[in-house]
Amino acid sequence: AALGARLAAGPEGAADVALVVVSAPSYPHAAADPVADVAALASAAGVPVHVDACIGGFALPFWPGLPAWDLRVPGVTSVSADLHKYAFAPKGASVLLHRDRDRQRAQYFATTRWPGYPVVNPTLLGSRSGGPLAAAWAILQALGADGLATLAGRARRATLALRDAVDGPAGIDGLRVVGSPVGPLLAVAADDAVPAERRVDPHLWADAVSTRGWTLQAQPGLEQGDGTRLPHTTHLTVTPVTDGVLGELVPVLRAAADDVRGLPRPDAGALLGSLPPLDPAAPLDSATAAALLDAVGLGTVGDDPDAAPGVGPMAPLLALVEALPAPLVERLLVELLARLVEPRAAV
Ligand SMILES: Cc1ncc(COP(=O)(O)O)c(C=O)c1O
Repeated sequence: AALGARLAAGPEGAADVALVVVSAPSYPHAAADPVADVAALASAAGVPVHVDACIGGFALPFWPGLPAWDLRVPGVTSVSADLHKYAFAPKGASVLLHRDRDRQRAQYFATTRWPGYPVVNPTLLGSRSGGPLAAAWAILQALGADGLATLAGRARRATLALRDAVDGPAGIDGLRVVGSPVGPLLAVAADDAVPAERRVDPHLWADAVSTRGWTLQAQPGLEQGDGTRLPHTTHLTVTPVTDGVLGELVPVLRAAADDVRGLPRPDAGALLGSLPPLDPAAPLDSATAAALLDAVGLGTVGDDPDAAPGVGPMAPLLALVEALPAPLVERLLVELLARLVEPRAAV
């Protein structure tokens, strides 16, 4: 609404808006933005609109009953769609579609102002391997539109089955699907409509699911720019493969919820209380960052060197993500991952 007001104010209100970006859908909650409404407002103010269809671009064309979200919508000027997601190509293959040639030409980089060869580069990142593109091309040739439709259909069937397993008449007590997800993904939150003893914390749930051999993705509940605080959730991206394993996965989702129903999530205050004092002005070196991780039970320092490396439970980590300033927690995440992939002798 705020953006709408600025755009509606005409060229002056939109003077510092370079591009409006909408999602089809967003990754965390599978929220589909009202593309046509936003594009109408933006194009009236002369502002280009990009649709991030990175995750939806090769699945939504086969989803029935959706309003147009792509270049069919007047005012949409570009669309991105990842071949390495629902076109099943290896990582590193995506497309950025432009409404017209002139806009597409602007993404090239050319220079003759250096001592070397005349440079003209069609990619956004400089040198890129042609390997993933060749593989993506081969996969699209092999699948064709019919193959993509079949696979999207399987992902859709599995997504609907998982929604039903959580939210349906015989759903999981204490959990709910967030919003109205569009496409092959969804987020699950605690159901605040039931009493606390029946609620299931989505991060404890994800950890309980992981002890049973499956991996779900914990997402923090952070305050947004407009002051809205999102619930903390657990995310599922659903693939055609999921359709073949629902018989194993759904009972695990139910049993894991039974394991943790009524339990409170880790208390960020208590975790923070166990941190050594920090000078907020000093940059965090690697040893201090590792000591902080250790203090909250997420560290790798002092681990059994023969133990398989792993991050462990996500619920405390996500409680910290919500409680600590983003730059600090981002530095800790870097430390966590870097220690995880280091040779053990160096720890
Ligand atoms: C909607 C959306 N946009 C962008 C991205 C970023 O994609 P990548 O990590 O492949 O660059 C993702 C990844 O999941 C996504 O879901």
